[in-house]
Formats: sequence, structure tokens, C-alpha cells
Amino acid sequence: MSTVYLNGKFMPIEEARVPVLDRGFIFGDGVYELVPVYSRVPFRLDEHLARLERSLDAARIRNPHSRAEWRAIVLELAAKQPFEDQGVYFQVTRGVAKRDHAFPKDAVPTVFMMSNPLSTPSQEAVERGASAVSAVDDRWLHCDIKSISLIGNVLLRQISADAGGAETILFRNGKLSEASASNVFVIKGGVILSPAKSNLILPGITYDVVVEIATAAKLPLEFRDLAEAEVRSADELWVTSSSKEVLAIVTLDGKPVGNGKPGPMFRQMHRLYQDFKQKVMRAGKERQAA
Ligand SMILES: Cc1ncc(COP(=O)(O)O)c(C=O)c1O
Repeated sequence: MSTVYLNGKFMPIEEARVPVLDRGFIFGDGVYELVPVYSRVPFRLDEHLARLERSLDAARIRNPHSRAEWRAIVLELAAKQPFEDQGVYFQVTRGVAKRDHAFPKDAVPTVFMMSNPLSTPSQEAVERGASAVSAVDDRWLHCDIKSISLIGNVLLRQISADAGGAETILFRNGKLSEASASNVFVIKGGVILSPAKSNLILPGITYDVVVEIATAAKLPLEFRDLAEAEVRSADELWVTSSSKEVLAIVTLDGKPVGNGKPGPMFRQMHRLYQDFKQKVMRAGKERQAA
């Protein structure tokens, strides 16, 4: 039985209850985060909390906790789980109120947090790569807010799920935006390319880590618009997210990407990413032990 956090209390998940008039249930009126935890050390926690603060601000939902309080709750929840590697999910909704679109005057935000075993890609998926299909990005224009209103992403993800694929890669007005639950990198002629951050993509924490690693390793990196044709003729395609980490996409709409295998730049980035994680974890363990 897993322990979750709801509005100030830790409890077994079976006992956690939210009223049906919660605006998260009625309107999808809330924001969320997912923080990967390796060996009980949260990865990039401050960056995730900073993004949560930005999402709350953009959604005009009162932030019920200070950064230090959020940090403490995440750590306590992670410590209560029987497994080491976790995905800590948390969401904040605008709270419980009589149904009316306009903001309620004095609703108290609902805070819910749970942790699940983290499922990162298997060794086989890393070595073989994954398949993806493409779709038109028909979501709203505030994709930089990590909103719990995910029906757009859910419908898009299902297109690839129905085709047996790992992701749906999205194009808006003929340009790459991101994927249904991850960011996308395109490798062409030895250069790592990705769309610049904007309101059209979620600013991924993993995207930032990949950029940081590429910069430190002096790998050529460029942020710019990427036309659909460039993506389809890429040497390599990667998707990145907290749970997928860095994963090679080797077929797009049934056609091979490059030679249809994870490329050399992917293998290098994947190794660097794992090294980076190990270093962060070791430092975190030492801090926790001190
Ligand atoms: C639409 C979308 N883009 C990108 C990402 C990657 O973000 P992160 O690297 O912070 O997990 C996610 C993760 O859930 C996502 O849902």
C-alpha cells in the first residue's frame, strides 16, 4: 500500500479522497510536476520546483508552499516509499468550489502528491531505439504551462500508442514543436538541434540537462525552427523527458531515421547522461549522509 500526501497529511493511497467539486476534477484547473528520484535522491528538484512556481503563477493559482516546504514534502514522501528509484508526481489545483468558470473568491488550493516506481527505458529500448509517429500539434498556445488539462496530449499520445509506438512527434504549422510527453532533439551533420523554448513547448528539465551536457562536452548545439522535412531527413532523433531520459527514435511514421539504429551521438549523449546522473546522485547521497 503506497503512501501519498494530500493537503498536509501523509496517508495510504486508499484513504486519499478529493471532493467531486474540486476544480481539478471539474475543469482540469491545476498544474503538476514529476520529479525523478534516483536512489532516493531527487534529480534537479530545485529546477522542477522553479517550473512549478512558474506554472502556478501563469495559472494564477496561489502557491500554498515555500520552496523549502515543497522540498521537505518531496523528500519525506520519497523516504516513505519501499522502492529506491521513484517518479514523484504532484499537482496543485485551484481547490474546491461551486462550479463556475470564474475563479472562486476563497478556495484553498488542493495539493496531492504520490510516488511510483520510476520506469526508465530498458537496456533493450536504449540499444534498439523506439518508434514514433507524427501528428499535427493542435494543442492550445500555453504549452509552457505544465497544466493538468492534458486531453490534447492524451489524444496525441494515443495516436502512437495505437500504432505500437513510444511517442507522437508534433508539428505546428509545418514546424517541430515537441512530442506528446517529451521534448525532441534532431541531429543533422553532427549538430544537435532543437526548437528554442517558447509558449509552444514545455521547458523540459531533461532538455536543459541535455543542453548542459552538450555544452560541457563542446558538442555543436543550435536552437532554431525545424521544418518537417528537416526532421524527416535527420541523422538521429531523440526524445527527452524525466522518465524517458534520452531515448533514440529510430523510425518515424514507419520510415527509418538515419540508418534506423540509435546513432553515435545518441550513444555518446546517453553515456554522458548516465554519468551525469551518477555524479548528481553521489553528491546527493553525501549531502544526505552529512
Ligand atoms: C509535453 C511535454 N513536453 C516535454 C516534457 C519533458 O519534460 P521533463 O524533461 O521536465 O520531464 C514533458 C514531460 O512530461 C511533457 O509532458
